[in-house]
Amino acid sequence: MPTSTTPTTLLSVLRPRNQDRLYDFYRDLRSVDDLYWDRRLHAWVATSHAVVSSTASDPRFSSVRYPDIEAVSEELRPLARVLSQQMLYSDAPDHARLRSLLSRAFTSRAVAGLRDRISVAVDEIFTRAAPTGRLDIVADLARPLPLAVICDLLGVPEEDRSTLSAWSDPIAAAIGSSRLGADDSRAASQSMAQMLTYLRGLLTRKDGPPAPHTLRALLATGTDNPDQDFDELLANCALLLIAGHETTTHFIGNAALALLDHPQAADQLRNRMDLLPAAVEELLRYDSPVQLMLRRARHDLELAGRSIAAGQAVLLVCGAANRDPAAFPDPDVLDFQRPSGRHVAFGYGPHFCLGAALARLEGVVVLEALLTRLPDWKLHGAPPSWQSSLNFRGLTSLDIAFTPSPEHLGSCTPAQQTASG
Ligand code: HEM
Repeated sequence: MPTSTTPTTLLSVLRPRNQDRLYDFYRDLRSVDDLYWDRRLHAWVATSHAVVSSTASDPRFSSVRYPDIEAVSEELRPLARVLSQQMLYSDAPDHARLRSLLSRAFTSRAVAGLRDRISVAVDEIFTRAAPTGRLDIVADLARPLPLAVICDLLGVPEEDRSTLSAWSDPIAAAIGSSRLGADDSRAASQSMAQMLTYLRGLLTRKDGPPAPHTLRALLATGTDNPDQDFDELLANCALLLIAGHETTTHFIGNAALALLDHPQAADQLRNRMDLLPAAVEELLRYDSPVQLMLRRARHDLELAGRSIAAGQAVLLVCGAANRDPAAFPDPDVLDFQRPSGRHVAFGYGPHFCLGAALARLEGVVVLEALLTRLPDWKLHGAPPSWQSSLNFRGLTSLDIAFTPSPEHLGSCTPAQQTASG
């Protein structure tokens, strides 16, 4: 049992002091009990790599978020109905069908075709910052870039992107919150309805052929399932906008901060650009943007020696699993040459992140640009602070200063392009 000096609820993560020492907090939790009943959250909390990964892929657990839609408040019900059509919140066999609607757009090959477009978007951001010698990595780079990339993929014209982002925010807030008021629920439901109406118009437009790299073009060539339900397709396009947005924003911010905190590791990368893909994996492990996944027991069952009752929730703390010394020796060390492959930052099992290849590519392009174009970057102004959230780990801002120089801030040189493949 947890002792009086040990934190007994995961909710304590929300205290600013614990955000600053998040991984010490998890270590304390795990050392007392790696699977415990959290009375305040009314859920089991798993912090070991073994339990997190096995539960994420265990068919005895469900990902369905609203098992009984009629029990959901009237304000939230419209949103709940849409979320229930999304792959993230469904189980086999529906899950495989919903995932197949979009999976062709996210293969490594399809995503590699977006590389030049991502590089151009990054280049524009750096060119804008060049004369100032200042950059808020969160506001100027980490927020706009993933939105631009996912909107580009969906074929959303530039002038509509801020509107989509404004609809996405209340929905993301509603998904991330366990206690939601009527006004916020209504706002989230309305935003989702507006987003779906917009996406329907976008995907059914008849004003000329879609740009070849877009999802609209891919859908126009037919899917593996000709009987697909268009509403389900729209619900899952909305999922892409929401899931592909804040997660990648936090990844870029967290990775940049880790490199600023570890200048030797940053120098190692500058000299060994071939380590960039491994560095992306290690940075995802080291400070994971998604901290929690949720599963519910389908029936009474045993998990790691505990009795879990039907319907009980298990919170799988990816951030803690990624610092579990049983899976990662010296887990608090940032090591780009660590044997790869076991982190759970993108989840594990059937719901493994559909956008992982895209997020990895964005990570490689952004890190390469940060390291090569801002060789003398340093923190500037107020110390970075963390957003208060159980689900996500991300900075509110990350101000840096650097010496602008045309040599470093211009487009990628051919040598850099070769180094990044
Ligand atoms: C660094 C950035 C990202 C991180 C850390 C991340 C993390 C995750 C995690 C942990 C899951 C599994 C959730 C669960 O099992 O409950 C997931 C699922 C998913 N992610 Fe990501 N994600 C990122 C970027 C993206 C991007 C860019 C997209 C799309 C454009 C995306 C789309 C999805 C989708 C559609 C799912 C649901 C997959 C399914 O249920 O089969 N993600 N992501």
